[in-house]
Amino acid sequence: MKKKKTRVGILTAGGDCPGLNAAIRGVGKTAILHYGMEVVGISSGFLGLINNEVVNLDEQTLSGILSQGGTILGTSREKPFKEDNFSQSINKPKLMKKHYDELGLDCLVCIGGNGTQKTAALLSENGMNIIGIPKTIDNDVWGTDITFGFDSAVNIATDAIDRLYTTANSHKRIMVIEVMGNNAGWLALYSGIAGGGDVILIPEIDYDINVVADYLVKNTYKKKHSSIVVVAEGIKTPEGKKKKNAASYISKKINEITGIETRETILGYIQRGGSPSPMDRVLATQYGAFAAQLIDEKKFGVMVAMKKGKIESVPLIEVGGKTRIIDINHSLIKKARYMETSFGN
Ligand code: F6P
Repeated sequence: MKKKKTRVGILTAGGDCPGLNAAIRGVGKTAILHYGMEVVGISSGFLGLINNEVVNLDEQTLSGILSQGGTILGTSREKPFKEDNFSQSINKPKLMKKHYDELGLDCLVCIGGNGTQKTAALLSENGMNIIGIPKTIDNDVWGTDITFGFDSAVNIATDAIDRLYTTANSHKRIMVIEVMGNNAGWLALYSGIAGGGDVILIPEIDYDINVVADYLVKNTYKKKHSSIVVVAEGIKTPEGKKKKNAASYISKKINEITGIETRETILGYIQRGGSPSPMDRVLATQYGAFAAQLIDEKKFGVMVAMKKGKIESVPLIEVGGKTRIIDINHSLIKKARYMETSFGN
């Protein structure tokens, strides 16, 4: 009797990022060509499993997508385990298990950030074979040293800072640029250092706006006649509140205290769009190929991770619900401080 082929489902959930298609291709092509498995795509993240929306993935559909931004499967921020889902007539987790069984899946690969990995862990507890792959431009997934999407976003943000630098210089202005990063400031830290930012404000370090203003007047403004301030979107006010428009808040405060002309830029979704960098293509491909290997080994309930340069797996149960924030004693912060970069404290 002909043996049933292992059937793999893939979904992408949460905010999109460059490299998602490279990861889908990495899982799919390795599963089909190397392990002889069957692969289907689930549309729009976890919503697709609730609504049973499936697309066939074969060699042809997986071809030519490596360099494309976004995700060919679509994504959503659907959280099927949110408590109010149980009070409604449909029990989403139950429905997802039903569709998983009806589709004849042997494993579901969930590509996403912290929220996705949390849901993935719960699905695993609910009797599905799950493998997580970490992605996000924020680089804040617990249990891995790096997520794909981050390198592409750092490149875009750095290019933006370089451009702001020349206009800041011409006008002798302070330019405040806001990059994404709600709870973790990895993107602000890396693009800030890569772009030679004078001040870098991240959610992990409490800043004092008077210290920032003093620094800009005494050290930078008098020396260079212009300054770049890189701000992560998740920084708080002294009252501990997050601002919708952190760049504008900081820019106004600096202008009020120093009297120096300031301007602000919010990079927004530009930093999440477009083609993945070569580094992200390679990382996403490696993560995808390793996920296929884990399926072949029947090692489920884990997330693919990079630890000290080695690709391995970590239990999903350890990942879900956590955020990898920056240690305030991180060596990059120390080195930047030696060069008199200010973190506002
Ligand atoms: O995916 C993470 C992230 O990029 C955060 O930095 C940002 O706060 C969030 O997405 C915004 O996403 P959206 O508006 O798409 O929900």
